[in-house]
Amino acid sequence: MTQKLRDELAEEINGWQKAANYQGCPFKGYEKINPHRKDHPKVLKACLDHLKEKEYDLTGKSVIDVGSNIGFFAFSLRIAGAGQLYMVERQGRVQKVIRQIVAIEGLKDVEVLGKKMHNVDQAKELPKCDIVVYKSVHHWIKKFSDEKTAEDIFREITSEASAVIYEPCNFGKALPTDADNSLAERCGFDTTVVIADGFKGRDIQVCLRSK
Ligand SMILES: C[S@@+](CC[C@H](N)C(=O)[O-])C[C@H]1O[C@@H](n2cnc3c(N)ncnc32)[C@H](O)[C@@H]1O
Repeated sequence: MTQKLRDELAEEINGWQKAANYQGCPFKGYEKINPHRKDHPKVLKACLDHLKEKEYDLTGKSVIDVGSNIGFFAFSLRIAGAGQLYMVERQGRVQKVIRQIVAIEGLKDVEVLGKKMHNVDQAKELPKCDIVVYKSVHHWIKKFSDEKTAEDIFREITSEASAVIYEPCNFGKALPTDADNSLAERCGFDTTVVIADGFKGRDIQVCLRSK
């Protein structure tokens, strides 16, 4: 029965448009999903290897994934030992899938905030987390606010974080700006590029708190 539910979910996701930028699911039984972002397993491995090399212990760490999509990174960090997960995701059908995965897998301590990040009142709606996943979403937050506000949102969400997984990007074929590339550095993190051939050749930064 459980596998049937996983298969139905995979079928639904495979029917979505490419534009949804959807991901795979790291739990066993979702191998039928054919994700748009095929770079994720490789990028995830590079991130986890880097954290291990830096002796960063994931055990029990809280995670927020901004623009989580169906939660590949948040769920993968949980599998690697992380604790409470928060996912902020604006698309209703994507939120629904996250909740279905949570129910099918019987997961605890996973919260989905179905909102656009720039509309979240962080002080009231989101606790401070140890790890912030902020991949391929800054351009969206800038689009709906402005560069300074977007940076303030990132600064606030990472203010007590010890690690950030960041993928600077831009719409279409445009390259991320220097300001996008150095965002985590300006907010007090050591930016170490762990993989330079992510989706469309993008650099992925795994950053530990430096000050
Ligand atoms: C380009 S995808 C990246 C997904 C994921 N972070 C990854 O690296 O695979 C952007 C995701 O962020 C969501 N999103 C876009 N703007 C958002 C916003 N302002 N607040 C929350 N989620 C947003 C989209 O629905 C989509 O799932």
